[in-house]
Amino acid sequence: MSTPFHDDEVMGKAFDAHLMRRLIRFLAPYRTLFFVCVILTMVLAGMQLLIPYITKTAIDNYMTLPHSIVTLDERPTVGNPLDLADGRYLVETGNVPPETRREWEATGKLSPERYLFIPAAKVAEQEAIAQHLPRFTAVRGGYIINEEGLRALPAADLVVLRRSAIAGIVHLAMVFIFILIARFLFGIVQVYLLQYTGQRVMYDMRGNIFGHVLRLPLSYFDRTPVGRVVTRTTNDVNAINEMFTSMLVNLFRDTFLLLGVIVIMFSFDWRLALAVLALFPVIVLATWQFRNRVRVAYREVRRQIAKLNSYLQESISGMRIIQVFVQERKANARFAEINRDTYRANMHQLVTFAIFRPLMSLLGSFAIALVIWYGGLNVLRGGLSLGALTAFIQYVGMLFEPILRLSEGYNVLQAAMASAERIFLLLDEKQEDRGTGKTISPFHGRIEFRDVWFAYNKDEWILKGVSFTAAPGEQIAIVGPTGEGKTTIIRLLLRMYPFQKGEILLDGVPIEQLDISYLRSQMAVVLQDVFLFSGDIMDNIRLHADISEEEAIAAARFVSADFVEELPNGYKTKVEERGVTLSYGERQLLSFARAVAFKPRVLVLDEATASIDSQTENLIQKSLLKIMKGRTSIVIAHRLSTIREADKIIVLHKGKVFESGTHQDLLAQNGLYAALHALQFA
Ligand SMILES: Nc1ncnc2c1ncn2[C@@H]1O[C@H](COP(=O)(O)OP(=O)(O)O)[C@@H](O)[C@H]1O
Ligand SMILES: [Mg+2]
Repeated sequence: MSTPFHDDEVMGKAFDAHLMRRLIRFLAPYRTLFFVCVILTMVLAGMQLLIPYITKTAIDNYMTLPHSIVTLDERPTVGNPLDLADGRYLVETGNVPPETRREWEATGKLSPERYLFIPAAKVAEQEAIAQHLPRFTAVRGGYIINEEGLRALPAADLVVLRRSAIAGIVHLAMVFIFILIARFLFGIVQVYLLQYTGQRVMYDMRGNIFGHVLRLPLSYFDRTPVGRVVTRTTNDVNAINEMFTSMLVNLFRDTFLLLGVIVIMFSFDWRLALAVLALFPVIVLATWQFRNRVRVAYREVRRQIAKLNSYLQESISGMRIIQVFVQERKANARFAEINRDTYRANMHQLVTFAIFRPLMSLLGSFAIALVIWYGGLNVLRGGLSLGALTAFIQYVGMLFEPILRLSEGYNVLQAAMASAERIFLLLDEKQEDRGTGKTISPFHGRIEFRDVWFAYNKDEWILKGVSFTAAPGEQIAIVGPTGEGKTTIIRLLLRMYPFQKGEILLDGVPIEQLDISYLRSQMAVVLQDVFLFSGDIMDNIRLHADISEEEAIAAARFVSADFVEELPNGYKTKVEERGVTLSYGERQLLSFARAVAFKPRVLVLDEATASIDSQTENLIQKSLLKIMKGRTSIVIAHRLSTIREADKIIVLHKGKVFESGTHQDLLAQNGLYAALHALQFA
C-alpha cells in the first residue's frame, strides 16, 4: 500500500555544512532582511534583559526603606524641606546633592535628632508603639519615628519629602513603558520581516522544485511515488522555513539571552549565580530528555496521521470497489486498527506533555526557591539588595525558556537538514535532455525507426531492434497483443524515455538532436488514458494559448463531441465538477478534439477509440480520415476493423516487427496478422 502523505522520516545529522551552504543560497537574496531580523531580535532580547534591571533600580533606589532623612533647624534652600511646624525641617537626602549634604554636615546645620522613615505598609507592626504614644495617630501615608515616638505623615507631606524618589519612579515607569512600546513595535516589525523572508524563501523554493519537476524525465516518475514529490514541495519546504524563521533567529536570541542573564547574575552575586548554575546540568538534561521524548511521540503521531490519511484517501477513492466487492467489513477492521494506533500515539504524546511540562516547571520553581532561600539570607546579611534579589528571580525565570528553545532548535535543525537533503536529492535529479535546440523547416513528417532497442529496466528488453518507416502523409498502424510495446514506441518517438540502441529519425534528423519542445509540438497525441486538467472543457481542448475558441469548437464538432453542447454550461462546464461523471468515451472525444485543434504534422493515436461505441467510432473514423489526410499518422488499434485502410500495418511481436504490409498483403501472408484477424472476426 502506498502512503502518499507519509514520508520516510529518517533523522540524520543535525548539521551538515555542505547542505547548509546550499540552503543559505536560497536565503542569499534576502540576506539584508535576514540580517536586520537578527539585529532586531538581539535588540528585543536586550530589552527583555533590561526589564528586571529596571525593577531592581526602582526597588533599590526608591522603594526600600529605611530612607535617610535629616533634620535641620532652619529652612534649607534646597531639597524640598518638610516643615514640621516646630521650627524643624525634614529633608530626604535623596533630594539634595551629596555636596550640599556634606556642606550641611560640615557647617553643623544638621540637628543631632534623627528620624527613621517607616512605610505605611509596615506600620501595623508598629501599632503597639503607636498606641503608647497617643500624640501621634495613624493616618494614610508614611510615618516617621524617633525617640519621641511614631509620627504620621499625611500623604501630602510624603509627596514633598519623597519628591526625588517619586520623580525617579515616574521616570523609571516611563522608561518601562517606553521599552514595552518599543518591544511591541520592534516585535511587530521583526515578526513581519522574518515571516516575509521565510515566505519568500519558501516561495522561491517551491517554484524551483516544481520548475525542476516539470523537466524531469518520465522515468523519474515511474520510480517515485507522487506523494513523495508532493511532500518535497510542501512539508520539506516548510521544515526549512521553520529552520530559517524560528530556529536560526532563536539561536541568536537565546544565546544572547543566556549569556546576558548569566553575566548579570554574576554581577549581582556570584555565589548565588554559581548556585543557580549548579542546577544547570539538571535543567539541560531534563530539557533534553523532554525534547527527545516529545520528538519521538510527535513523530509517531505524524506517522499515524499520515497512515490514517492515506488509508482514508485510498478507501474513499476506492469506495466503489469496496462496496461492489462487499469489502466493508474488512475495510472497517483495517481502519479500526489504524484508528486505534493513531489514538494511542496521540495519548502517548499527551501523557509525555502532561508529565514533562509540570516537571519542567517544578524544576524552575525549585531554582527560584533556591534563590529566595539563599538570596534571601544574603539580603538579610546585607550582601544583596532586595531589588537585586527580585531581579535575580526574574532572571532565573528567563533561563529556562532559552534552554528549552535551543533544544527544540536542535530538532528543528535536524528535521530541516533531513528535508534539505531530500529536496536537494530531488533538485539534483538529472533533468530531461532538452535537445540542442535544432528544428526542421520545412518539416515533412517522415518518421523512421532504425533497429531501436529499449528497456525500461536494465536488461529487460521491451523493444529488440524495431525498424519501420512512415513516409510523410502515410498512415501507419501498429498492432500486436497487449504488452508488446506499442505504447512504448510512441513514448520513444515523443522522447519521453531515452532508448538504448538504434536511431529514431524525423525527416532524417535523429530526435535527440531536435529541440524537445519543437519535437513534441509537431505531434498531436491521443493517448490510451485521457487526462483532463482542472478548468473548463474549453481550456482542456485548447491547451495551447494560440488556439482560438472558434477553432476549439470547430474541433469538437469535427470529432462529433456533441455531448458538450448539451451540457447546461456547454464549453464552460468545469471539469473538476464533471470530471468524474464524464464517461470514458466522452473524455476520449475531448482528447480527440484537443488533437484536432492542435493541427499537427504528425498524429498519434494510441488505442484512442477503444472505449467509444462503434456508432460514434464510425463517426470519428470518418473525421479522422479527413484529418489524417496529408499528415503522417501512427495509429495503434485494438480493433483491426479500424485500421484496414492503413498504408502500412506493422505487427509487433516479441519486441520486433514481426511482419508488415497492407491489410491485403498481411492476410495473404497468412501469418500472425491473419491469425489475429481471424480471431476477431470469427
Ligand atoms: N513505465 C514503465 N516502467 C516499466 N515497465 C513498463 C513501463 N511501461 C510499460 N512497461 C512494460 O513494458 C511492456 C510494454 O508496455 P506497453 O508499451 O504499454 O505495451 P502495449 O501498449 O503494447 O500494451 C509491458 O510489459 C509493460 O509492463
Ligand atoms: Mg498500450
